[in-house]
Amino acid sequence: MKIGIIGATGLIGRTLLSVLEHSSLPIEIVYLSASTKSEGNDRVFRDRHYKIANTSLETVQQVCDVVVLSSDSSVSSTWSTHIQEYATWILDISNAHRDDTTIPLVVPEINGDTLQHYKGIISNPNCSTIQLTKAVYPIQKLFGLHKIIVSTYQSVSGMGQKGLSLFHQEQGQTLDKAPLSKNCTPYIGPIQEHGYCQEEWKMIHETKRILCDDSLLVIPTTVRVPVEISHGESIYVETREEINLERLVKFIQEQPYITYDDTSLKTANAVHTNQVFIGRLRYVDSHSLQFWCIADNLLVGSAWNAYQIIHGLERRII
Ligand SMILES: NC(=O)c1ccc[n+]([C@@H]2O[C@H](COP(=O)([O-])OP(=O)(O)OC[C@H]3O[C@@H](n4cnc5c(N)ncnc54)[C@H](OP(=O)(O)O)[C@@H]3O)[C@@H](O)[C@H]2O)c1
Repeated sequence: MKIGIIGATGLIGRTLLSVLEHSSLPIEIVYLSASTKSEGNDRVFRDRHYKIANTSLETVQQVCDVVVLSSDSSVSSTWSTHIQEYATWILDISNAHRDDTTIPLVVPEINGDTLQHYKGIISNPNCSTIQLTKAVYPIQKLFGLHKIIVSTYQSVSGMGQKGLSLFHQEQGQTLDKAPLSKNCTPYIGPIQEHGYCQEEWKMIHETKRILCDDSLLVIPTTVRVPVEISHGESIYVETREEINLERLVKFIQEQPYITYDDTSLKTANAVHTNQVFIGRLRYVDSHSLQFWCIADNLLVGSAWNAYQIIHGLERRII
């Protein structure tokens, strides 16, 4: 399987490369590219050395099965049309195509079937949305969903390498010089329509798309917290049908991507795992419940999801 990665030096690019490297997929790296800053840097993949290329027309005009766009949305918008001629699938990790309803927005365990006969651009959802949809999907399947109220506790690695570096630079600084590492910030991205910030709008639109229900009420508050990796989410849901808690717990425990566990719910426990952890499940009334959820934002929230999509596409290469 021929793969090109744009943004290969970033947090998600590196995490994805590590997952691919340790997988059994027959991967042939065609190119790894980034900004001019990283041009010429060395990257080893399965004992072979690769030079990081500058992202240019010459680089992207190489034929691939899948090209992963793992940079910001402006880079994705600039290159996706050029690449379309040279790649069967483009997997965009950024926000650039998530609102385009002609482009599948995919969490494989939920709507992976949308890719069955599809070729072209595929969109990987936002990290907090992947975590949320995976957590509530079993509830939707059993009892239907009417409303979700979610408060997120999002780690600084969600801001990319610059967020993680800033967090480390701020260690040992006084409160006024450490806005990221000594604070909880109750908005992520600019405040937009109706007082919701950019990250909250992403969660609203993307959750409805992935769970395939435009009438679903999604009410998020997204908060940046001083944690390196892994997001926490406090989730309250209202269901359409009466909840049977015993049945729900049994069903959640049957999902291979969920660990139901009340003892290991600190965010650090999710780091470097591909599981969504759920616990502190509380029955509010016959049609509502509340729980806590953690997941590694770099893996579950992005690179693992991308890997699962790539894995599914590999079976379709002749
Ligand atoms: N971090 C998360 O938890 C997370 C989760 C879900 C989705 N995402 C999304 O995933 C994407 C990547 O995020 P990240 O966290 O990996 O960010 P990052 O650590 O900042 O990495 C950004 C990557 O883009 C490259 N880049 C920058 N300017 C470029 C240009 N002009 N042309 C080509 N490449 C360029 C960087 O190369 P250099 O190293 O050379 O600068 C680097 O490889 C973003 O769209 C983000 O929103 C992130």
